[in-house]
Amino acid sequence: MQTSPQPHPGQPNIPLVAAPMAGGPSTPALVRAAVAAGATAFLAGGYKTAAALEAEIKAVRDILPRVGVNLFVPPFDAAGRATGQHLSRETAGAFAAYARALAPEAAALGVELDPRPVEDDSDFWEAKLDLLESMRVPLVSLTFGLPPAADVRRLQRVGSRVYATVTTPGEADTALALGVDGLVVQGTGAGGHSATHDPARPVTAHATADLVRDIAARTRVPLIGAGGVASAADVESILDAGATSVAVGTLLLLAREAGTNPTHRAALAAAVAGERPAETALTSAFTGRPARALNNRFMRDHDAAAPLAYPAVHHLTRSLRQAAAAAGDAERLHLWAGEGVAAVREGTAGEILRGLVPAR
Ligand SMILES: Cc1cc2nc3c(=O)[nH]c(=O)nc-3n(C[C@H](O)[C@H](O)[C@H](O)COP(=O)(O)O)c2cc1C
Repeated sequence: MQTSPQPHPGQPNIPLVAAPMAGGPSTPALVRAAVAAGATAFLAGGYKTAAALEAEIKAVRDILPRVGVNLFVPPFDAAGRATGQHLSRETAGAFAAYARALAPEAAALGVELDPRPVEDDSDFWEAKLDLLESMRVPLVSLTFGLPPAADVRRLQRVGSRVYATVTTPGEADTALALGVDGLVVQGTGAGGHSATHDPARPVTAHATADLVRDIAARTRVPLIGAGGVASAADVESILDAGATSVAVGTLLLLAREAGTNPTHRAALAAAVAGERPAETALTSAFTGRPARALNNRFMRDHDAAAPLAYPAVHHLTRSLRQAAAAAGDAERLHLWAGEGVAAVREGTAGEILRGLVPAR
């Protein structure tokens, strides 16, 4: 009798990682399916309350050695306390103008935007840190920046390996100086938010394999390469460049177990079918932080005026985007997708991941 391969606890048997995807796509079911296929998989802690994240961790508790949890890193004050972003007078002015510019978009969907900027959102950092510490989550990845060293130590003291996501060799050096255990090396072809530690810095295009090669020359910590994967050949070239494993996000968006919303799914399927261009671009129009998405009208019309004010712009546009998703309006929705989007296929996560394993 043939049995499916069982992953060994704590030891991946395919060099792939189901990337964290906040906002719906990453579900406990997706994580479970990816782990059953022999991959490592991340839950997405971003946007969630600590209680919601706790429920997800409990849902995969039996496979926890193979599961990581990803958190968004907020800004911190001089005393090392997580704070929200505070808008300068100039940014507040640009934000108010942006809110006015988006009002007709919202009205077209029957919603009204709240033009008061949310400035105190630290994405429940302290509560989530308490949770991960108390649950002794073995693998934690961080995006959008770096926390104070004391927060990294808190997790390491209970046995967590802490990975920082970096987008340049300079960010890698800063993360390594903090004593992280590994790096997620994200190239510019990645879908969703860029992990950049400085959203205002102009983006220089870095293919994931090239960035991994540069960073592998500076450190021996494990590297997870991420961004733009469309094939097993892409995975192979990122591994050859020095990555320990390769993370896949976009290619899992149509997985049966993913929680991708139906409007996003339909737009991805249309791109693959040639019914809309499978062309992606970086935009800050939806959230105030650069993110890669399938190009749509909202991006073309509003990107230039969008202030770099995350998460204030995320909160401003949230009701508009929720209404767009509910109405099936793909031209007003953030259709996160990476440069490998033309290779997206429906299937189970296991089928999709097994199709990306290099034959060697
Ligand atoms: C829909 C979506 C949501 C994402 N959310 C997160 C997130 O919550 N945290 C994070 O670190 N990265 C996030 N990312 C980035 C992925 O973790 C990963 O770096 C990226 O998907 C890899 O590139 P690819 O999409 O080309 O495979 C997201 C990506 C997508 C497509």
